Amino acid sequence: MSDNLHQLRCFGCGARISGAEAQPDFRCAACGDLFEVEYPGWLERHGHDRPNPGALKWLWRERRCSSESLDNSGVWRFRELLPILENFGHAITLREGNTPLYHLTRAANTLGIDQLYAKHQGLNPSGSFKDTGMTAALSVAKERGFEWVACASTGNTSASMAAYAARAGLRSLVLIPEGKIAWGKLAQAMDYGAVTCQLQTDFDGCVRVLAEIVRIAPVYLLNSVNPYRLEGQKTPAFEIAEAFDWVIPDHVIVPGGNLANSSALGKGFRELVELGLVARMPRISVIQAAGANPLVRSLAETHGASLTSLEAHTRASAIRIGNPASWRKAVRVIQETCGWCLDVTEAEIAIAKAELGAEGLGCEPASAVTLAGLKKLRASAKIGAADSVVLILTGHTLKDANYTIDFHRGSLLSEPEAEGREAEIDALRRDAHAVDATPQAVLSAVKGLSR
Ligand code: F0G
Repeated sequence: MSDNLHQLRCFGCGARISGAEAQPDFRCAACGDLFEVEYPGWLERHGHDRPNPGALKWLWRERRCSSESLDNSGVWRFRELLPILENFGHAITLREGNTPLYHLTRAANTLGIDQLYAKHQGLNPSGSFKDTGMTAALSVAKERGFEWVACASTGNTSASMAAYAARAGLRSLVLIPEGKIAWGKLAQAMDYGAVTCQLQTDFDGCVRVLAEIVRIAPVYLLNSVNPYRLEGQKTPAFEIAEAFDWVIPDHVIVPGGNLANSSALGKGFRELVELGLVARMPRISVIQAAGANPLVRSLAETHGASLTSLEAHTRASAIRIGNPASWRKAVRVIQETCGWCLDVTEAEIAIAKAELGAEGLGCEPASAVTLAGLKKLRASAKIGAADSVVLILTGHTLKDANYTIDFHRGSLLSEPEAEGREAEIDALRRDAHAVDATPQAVLSAVKGLSR
């Protein structure tokens, strides 16, 4: 491994170790906290020794036109900023990243924010943002000679890990909470050949079981406590910067579950500033579901000094997490960028998801918390009309089709949950009509189609 190029630094006590010295659970032996990858060579360089920002920007853009698979990857085309492999030829890529940034025309109009965009990470190869991190960490696993990889998951990590493991010829073990993940995600893990174990517990329980397993069996842990995952997941920050011609937008808004994604994006933007590629970081705000909001509570009650885990409940199953591993890293990102952290109700999530769908940009419920959160930030004037805003949509709409169908059939939300929002919900609902198989019957069922 390129231990000469990178090292791991403990987020808690600052201890530094080489990549090869990490324990199987990726916790610091001294204090139990998580590690971050750092590249000591970068900041020691001065003057002519430092990478030339203009040359790097040009190179990264040029690679998009190359026919090499590594260059086509939206992660590895930025490989100068993630030198974690001994040999980049070992990278396992499904050509992840390079996801579109869409202007949210209708929401922009309704909210009175001209520059409102969605970065759709659900358009990655396995349908979620996890692919950018998985290509990085799984490539490390392969290069280090592991035969088995494993994760605990609310569904998307397992789908992504199983796909990349299959490409690499590795075996994969998935632990999921029984009955608590969307079918689309379970189907993917099966399709890609993972050994899938459904445990009678929640996501946090699966994490605990897996932490024991990696200590006694030779499997490589691919949950986001693995710091190499975050190295891949920081690259959408580079893509956003590039799309804005290296003038950073004012706000980036992300969903918060296990809190690795917010941490990774923060790391990405921070490194761009440290390397002189951009002038500043955006404000990074994290949105949680009201029934799964340990970070919101931690910040409100202790200013992020401690976090009390809770039993999580939300239909946005991807973020049904009560004991987030990367919470300390997320606190740092929110505080250093002066971002916000707030929660949204089940009705707010469902409405925001339907609104994104009506713009032609379907997404998972967990992704829609970003729009729901933006509405609150706009209503409280924390985000202004002239601000530029990027929402990170994390998962594809087909991951959880049942949620969407239940919403449009009117069976998703309970009466108390929908109370006061009935008119909004009715205006968004589009149920399928059961009609006779004749043109007349179809035309009479469809209002507004007659001549
Ligand atoms: N959105 C989606 C669609 C997710 O799948 C997840 C996390 C998140 C947001 C939250 O991201 O954990 O980095 O704060 N899913 C994980 C999984 C936990 O197992 O697939 P986070």
